[in-house]
Amino acid sequence: MTIKGVYANDIGPESDAARASARAITAQGARAKALMDCHIRKLYYGSFLAVRDAEIPIAPNAITAFIGPSGCGKSTVLRSLNRMNDFVPGFRLEGSVHFQGQDIYANHVDPVAVRRSIGMVFQQPNPFAMSIYKNVAFGLRLNRYKGDYAERVEAALRGAALWDEVKDKLHSSGLSLSGGQQQRLCIARAIAVEPDLLLMDEPCSALDPIATRRIEELMLELKERYTIAIVTHNLQQAQRVADHTAFLFVDTSAGGRTGYLIEYRPTAALFEDPREERTKAYIRGEFS
Ligand SMILES: Nc1ncnc2c1ncn2[C@@H]1O[C@H](COP(=O)(O)OP(=O)(O)OP(=O)(O)O)[C@@H](O)[C@H]1O
Ligand SMILES: [Mg+2]
Repeated sequence: MTIKGVYANDIGPESDAARASARAITAQGARAKALMDCHIRKLYYGSFLAVRDAEIPIAPNAITAFIGPSGCGKSTVLRSLNRMNDFVPGFRLEGSVHFQGQDIYANHVDPVAVRRSIGMVFQQPNPFAMSIYKNVAFGLRLNRYKGDYAERVEAALRGAALWDEVKDKLHSSGLSLSGGQQQRLCIARAIAVEPDLLLMDEPCSALDPIATRRIEELMLELKERYTIAIVTHNLQQAQRVADHTAFLFVDTSAGGRTGYLIEYRPTAALFEDPREERTKAYIRGEFS
């Protein structure tokens, strides 16, 4: 991706001034080319300030990973990107999330339409209690898709690297599949409607290492056509799949527990040359 080129000079600037200027340039570069530009100033659940100061661009046809200790707001930020948090009573966001140039929190924007073009895959595979075929066709029906369902279902199952395993049992229950297959079914369900962006919240945490690698390979294939943002606790996974990584942390200084962005960088730079002490410590495994 051209976005990667933006960061070509980003590794190891020599002085603080060079670092600051590199940071400004790379942030500008990423933002100019971002599919989504997330500017969370403050995000509340009721009176609880859950996240502050998270500016994270999501580059197109790339994978952006969110990492950080438990409770730092990774899922919260991810769920803000397709207005999933709207379901939480008391949720309030100050800032903006621009997607293809439009703020998805603007008054006139329909959150249902946002969720239609920004799909989501959750931590626990959650196929519906219906056939494999109907699971994948579900979103198409919801969108009143007028084309050939069988063709689209097959394409989505192929895209999710599941077709060969299920093509002879499309009418069996989605729940009869293994955990790894169920997660690929959920990915097929999400990509069937051809979303512009796919959000994944720890999609491998319920899976064994083989199924995990399978999903990781799949993500790398999918980024050719889609843009992906993923939350992961697994630092090796972030390094294996992500082009860019955002590291969030928890600020307890004011007595609360507020997540904020510490560092957003190309993944290799973040892991090999972290700028911030907290990032270094986290990567060394000093807190989880
Ligand atoms: N629906 C909710 N209502 C109220 N508070 C919430 C809600 N969801 C999350 N929080 C709070 O917001 C903060 C961030 O939670 P979040 O789930 O985003 O963290 P996380 O980084 O994804 O953690 P984990 O790694 O454990 O999944 C936490 O303090 C959490 O208790
Ligand atoms: Mg989470």
